[in-house]
Amino acid sequence: MPRHTPTRALARPTVPVTLIYKHPARHGHNARPRHQLMARPGDTVLELVLRNQLDIEHDCGGICGCTTCHIRAVAGAEHLSPPDADESQRIAQTCDHQSDSRLACQTTITGPGPITIIVPD
Ligand code: FES
Repeated sequence: MPRHTPTRALARPTVPVTLIYKHPARHGHNARPRHQLMARPGDTVLELVLRNQLDIEHDCGGICGCTTCHIRAVAGAEHLSPPDADESQRIAQTCDHQSDSRLACQTTITGPGPITIIVPD
């Protein structure tokens, strides 16, 4: 579940996150593959992306009920919450999962970064 806390809303965005789309044209943001974002500690990756008017599919609305928000944390994974059993089970259902696969709605930014995320097809 997305983690919403009143204090996090006041946190300053201090965590550098590079977001790389493998197929940017499919996400409707001017075909730019690379975006430099600043996250607030406690953001999920999905919250960060949506707050920056970018897109990651999230068919279930962020409740770990699908796999459409599949991402890969290719650098800085130590600055992210570890996957719980539900997320790990969902990730195993994706056809192209890798050892660094995560679900954007379940992945919380916990450290100072930097973090690099790839959005696969
Ligand atoms: S949006 Fe469905 S699992 Fe993340």
